[in-house]
Amino acid sequence: MFKPMISSTFTKTALMSTNHALLARSLTRPAAIIPSRFFQTNSTLTASRPDLQTMPVDMIEEIRHSKPMPMRTELASGKEITTDLLEKLDVGEKKHRVPITWSDAAAYHTVQVLRYLPDTYFRHNHYMRVVMLETVAAVPGMVGGMLRHLKSLRNIKHDGGWIIHLLHEAENERMHLLTWMKLLQPSKFDRFIVMAVQGIFFNAYFIAYLISPRTAHRFCGYLEEQAVISYTHFIEDIDKGLIKNEPAPRIAKEYYNLHPDATVRDVVLAVRSDEALHRDSNHHMSDRIAAHQEDLREDVRKIIADPSWKENFGTYSNDADVKWK
Ligand SMILES: [Fe+2]
Ligand SMILES: [Fe+2]
Repeated sequence: MFKPMISSTFTKTALMSTNHALLARSLTRPAAIIPSRFFQTNSTLTASRPDLQTMPVDMIEEIRHSKPMPMRTELASGKEITTDLLEKLDVGEKKHRVPITWSDAAAYHTVQVLRYLPDTYFRHNHYMRVVMLETVAAVPGMVGGMLRHLKSLRNIKHDGGWIIHLLHEAENERMHLLTWMKLLQPSKFDRFIVMAVQGIFFNAYFIAYLISPRTAHRFCGYLEEQAVISYTHFIEDIDKGLIKNEPAPRIAKEYYNLHPDATVRDVVLAVRSDEALHRDSNHHMSDRIAAHQEDLREDVRKIIADPSWKENFGTYSNDADVKWK
């Protein structure tokens, strides 16, 4: 327990001197953890124990209300997600973008070579395989988002709508990883492999994105094609009875708003649909870079102004066209 450092008399006096709504709300908390935004304390920081009174109220409010949002529109509708809906999601199981240029071919063959490690080491250990996949897949969005953030600063120019999407992709992949970690206890050696792969992959992807963002996104497109295939095999092995179809972990149920009796199979269906989106969006981003048309906002504005869009998806965008002017 933290010792109260602010007397209740002082607290009331402070309240009378300000009408700030957040302060009034903070009074419902024990005095010891009222943030220092309103009170000067004599607290000192120690290396072993952070002082909770120094945490800004905005930080507390942001963290307690933050909630990762799914990427697929169908899964972010707020409605309860049923198995039937998950089965009907269009994922284009065998969709493949044929390599056209030499850089496409390089990206494609790099992914094929990288498949060798999980194919050899994990074989049909689907849980370990997807954990390894997600630790890698969560890197490109963060690297791409970071580099485009820096580019936007450098050029003193809007990023064209890329950063938010790329960071959302990274978060989405991390949610996949956190879900699978609820069902798997990796050995120390497995964790070592994950660490080593991340160290190598982060740096390699960072350099690749600096040299050719187009090839980097193409690489991700092909990586995600493989992810869809891997998750399809996962579903097939559950259906064959080779993997126990356990209840879905709570983290996945909350993230996707899955029905109460959801199972691992439902989670795999949801995750696979995310991978299909990453596949399509990364190939699209690569095509855009090749075509020198990187302003996503400009084209989104045109698309949502089209009457057919409003007819089919009107409720999805609402004020986006106004907001982005
Ligand atoms: Fe993923
Ligand atoms: Fe993915």
